[in-house]
Amino acid sequence: MYYFDGSSRRWTSLLTLFCILCLLITPAVSVKRENFKTCDQSGFCKRNRAYADTALSESRWQAPYALDPSTVKFDKGVLTGTVLKKIINTNDNVRLPLKITFHESGTARVTIDEERRQKGDIELRHGSKARKERYNEAEKWAIVGGTTVSAGAALNSDAEKGTTRIMYGPGSKFEAVIRHEPYGIEFKREGETQIKFNDRGLMNVEHWRAKVDKPAEEQKEGDEAVVAESDKEAAEDESTWWDEKFGGNTDSKPKGPEAVALDISFPGYQNVYGAAEHTGPLSLKETRGGDDKYTDPYRLYNSDVFEYEMDSPMTLYGSIPFMQAQKKNSNVGVFWLNAAETWIDITKSTTSANPLSLGIGSEVTTQTHWISEAGLLDVFVFLGPTPQDVIGAYGELTGYSQLPQQFSIAYHQCRWNYVTDEDVKDVDRKFDKHRIPYDVIWLDIEYTDGKKYFTWDPMTFGDPIGMQKQLDDHERKLVAIIDPHIKNEGGYHVVDELKSKDLAIKNKDGNIYEGWCWPGSSHWVDCFSPKARDWWKGLFRYDKFKGTGKNSFIWNDMNEPSVFNGPETTSPKDNLHYGDWEHRDLHNINGMTFVNATYEALLARDKDEDKHPVRPFVLTRSFYSGSQRLGAMWTGDNQAAWPHLEASIPMILSMGISGYPFAGADVGGFFGNPSKELLARWYQAGAFYPFMRGHAHIDTRRREPYLAGEPYTQIIAQAIRLRYSLLPAWYTAFHEASTTGAPIVRPNYYVHPGDEKGFGIDDQFYLGSYGLLAKPVTREGQEGQDMYLADKEKYYDYFDYWMYEGPTTVTVAAPLDTIPFLMRGGHIIPRRDRPRRSSGLMKFDPLTLVVVIGNSGDAEGTLYLDDGESFNYKEGAYIHRRFSYQGATSTLTSEDLAALPGKKTNEYLKQMEKVRVEKVIVVGAPQTWAGKTEVEISEEGGKSSSGTKKVPLEFHGQEGGKAAWAVVRDPGVQIGSGWKIAF
Ligand code: NOJ
Repeated sequence: MYYFDGSSRRWTSLLTLFCILCLLITPAVSVKRENFKTCDQSGFCKRNRAYADTALSESRWQAPYALDPSTVKFDKGVLTGTVLKKIINTNDNVRLPLKITFHESGTARVTIDEERRQKGDIELRHGSKARKERYNEAEKWAIVGGTTVSAGAALNSDAEKGTTRIMYGPGSKFEAVIRHEPYGIEFKREGETQIKFNDRGLMNVEHWRAKVDKPAEEQKEGDEAVVAESDKEAAEDESTWWDEKFGGNTDSKPKGPEAVALDISFPGYQNVYGAAEHTGPLSLKETRGGDDKYTDPYRLYNSDVFEYEMDSPMTLYGSIPFMQAQKKNSNVGVFWLNAAETWIDITKSTTSANPLSLGIGSEVTTQTHWISEAGLLDVFVFLGPTPQDVIGAYGELTGYSQLPQQFSIAYHQCRWNYVTDEDVKDVDRKFDKHRIPYDVIWLDIEYTDGKKYFTWDPMTFGDPIGMQKQLDDHERKLVAIIDPHIKNEGGYHVVDELKSKDLAIKNKDGNIYEGWCWPGSSHWVDCFSPKARDWWKGLFRYDKFKGTGKNSFIWNDMNEPSVFNGPETTSPKDNLHYGDWEHRDLHNINGMTFVNATYEALLARDKDEDKHPVRPFVLTRSFYSGSQRLGAMWTGDNQAAWPHLEASIPMILSMGISGYPFAGADVGGFFGNPSKELLARWYQAGAFYPFMRGHAHIDTRRREPYLAGEPYTQIIAQAIRLRYSLLPAWYTAFHEASTTGAPIVRPNYYVHPGDEKGFGIDDQFYLGSYGLLAKPVTREGQEGQDMYLADKEKYYDYFDYWMYEGPTTVTVAAPLDTIPFLMRGGHIIPRRDRPRRSSGLMKFDPLTLVVVIGNSGDAEGTLYLDDGESFNYKEGAYIHRRFSYQGATSTLTSEDLAALPGKKTNEYLKQMEKVRVEKVIVVGAPQTWAGKTEVEISEEGGKSSSGTKKVPLEFHGQEGGKAAWAVVRDPGVQIGSGWKIAF
């Protein structure tokens, strides 16, 4: 029994006061680092870093790998052979089959396996049921094209002794020089070395070996290094080979050590990009060597990193093991096809021809060291020379990004959670009341009945169909969350079926795996299994997931998978998947298989029930190379803090150059409450995220844009309206991404690959191919932005046509209501300027064309349009135009870019007949137009007898620093037809 005397009451009051104060001060949240491994705590990473240290510090280091020349065969674009790994202090070798495939596209692929494991000739410890081979199915998930083997690749008979040389690629300009001993490869373009494999001798394929249990005493001595110097070499350090403990979990590692590692150098290349997903700069930092460098390698191990930190190589939710290197006018890349935990060390070295040159004429080489825990050593090599060549070739392999539905590139309103169907309807009405456009409202996990997916909480969402009906009235959509953890509760049909059909992930003993997530005790659907995917499909049928309709889509979260009580908040590595692959083998692909299953399910529900499938929309948190084919991603749980806003830009740029451009960050920040200034600035930046969604944690205050109050609400509304008016440009950029892999928002190095000064810039970017250059404000109180103009070209302020001329850095005023946003000369930008409630209501709106005249006097731009929802574009139901302005003749023309007409072309063009150009604005109009009052227009099949008509021209002369501009109102031409305007 407790008695409270006066003093304890005082203490209680003080304590209460303290707690209240703590709540008032926004906590400086930060990641629990101790929950995640450092390289030193990850056995294979530690071993391979130590291996690198030995190799690089010992002058007599001999890399123990040699390609046996007697095994080398080259036939029809494929070289095969056996690499022999010499086992230290024995005469034994481990046989590692090598295959180098040269593809028609100019991409080369180098794969190394382990013969004994291919044959299944190994024993697993702990009676494990796992597969014995090295994981060889990553390609099944990641690769969808670009693998036609080159007919032209040929052996070069001039090879020096001890090498094999293959000429390949377009015009046979590429060459692979394979050194036999020590084994290594140099990739050359037009005789110049671009990429080197195993140049530093760090290649390491840890072969299978049986565990020999040593007497305890001997083991102890070994650990304490009480070993004679001569014995040291003989003994390998086994301390991290077998069962590995971390954070109270033990990984049984039935196959022992099996890592693969390789050093890949880029001679002459100072910048490398990619290896998403990380915070930190776009141009990747060095990871060894002190100063401003990271101390750990970049890590790729998809994880639910709670309160992740800024400027860090720590792993995040997704992995794209694709890296590009850039030097002046040259870009090359590698794709490390491995789905296991991976670490990448990056270092740079400078070589100088003349030690007294003080750096002038010196050359920087970037050296990378890739280390994966398991699987094949499997690397694709791209030799460029442009960033687009490399990204395009990577996209050809892993697929281009999906052409999304138009609604999904408009504005999304989300929070954890909209609490009832009435709440949703109320938010919907308030957006209208405040004239703020939005397309999608989202439901987080609380809509379910007790976190049981595919159900609705009957108390709060009693009428989901009525709710969706209201949304549909303005062509709006609903996105509901479905996670991969299935509540372990008897009588819940989904878990009952999961168990009875045996479709879940298993533990190491082959029993159903049970862990903890939002619903409490849960099981995880194993989407590697075709049967599981088939079953998953059925769950989304409109008659099965009752309450969903045609305007509902899906959010897949927690698919790393996040397991609250698992090691590093994820699945144990010795868990088993379909085909008895260990989770360790395929961890980074897991998230993608789940989205894939959902994507297929959304397709199937329409096909099965409606016969008019629309393009699925799925948002994912976890991803791998290839996920871009399936939907959008976002950067997970950021914070309502300025550094997170700032970091979102390089993170999204990094996704774009990694072939996954449909990317966004939670606008406003997930954790915490943003100040109004931060919120407004975040919307201004968010208007340039390819995926634009406001989202917030359950403990935050409501922050729908209309709640901010003036002037903030108007500023936010303006940012969203800017997004909507530029939707035709965004959609065209998405179309380009879906056909060429080009990023949607583009960093300086991509657009200006000859401009070395801009290679490190990652806080400003271009939108699509439109020369639209934005640099949203990401710092508190900042009222101006320095913008870097890379080239000798005119740039104009987007809003008031203020003129700038590159190359230089200019300061653009940026009071709170302004986004620093410029238009580069030489482009034509399509817009839709009529404000609407949603993008669906803009479908038949007229267009405005903004012709931005640059130094050449000419300008050009494209427009892609289709119904924005179905697959009819595959049958020709689209409009694709090129607009060109010729300065010499002062004419603007529209010409067709569409491929041959398809079955549905005419029907679509008929529908679009009424869609016209309502305005042409010419920015930087020539002074000679000052006296002009009209333009002459001719249109294909035009109605007037002469075939031409005259329309007024309005000219506005240059004013101070603002450019002259002209406008043609209502030229009356159709967007889908050919026409010419003579100024
Ligand atoms: C974690 C996600 O990252 C977050 O966006 C979501 O709100 C919560 N899960 C709840 O579902």
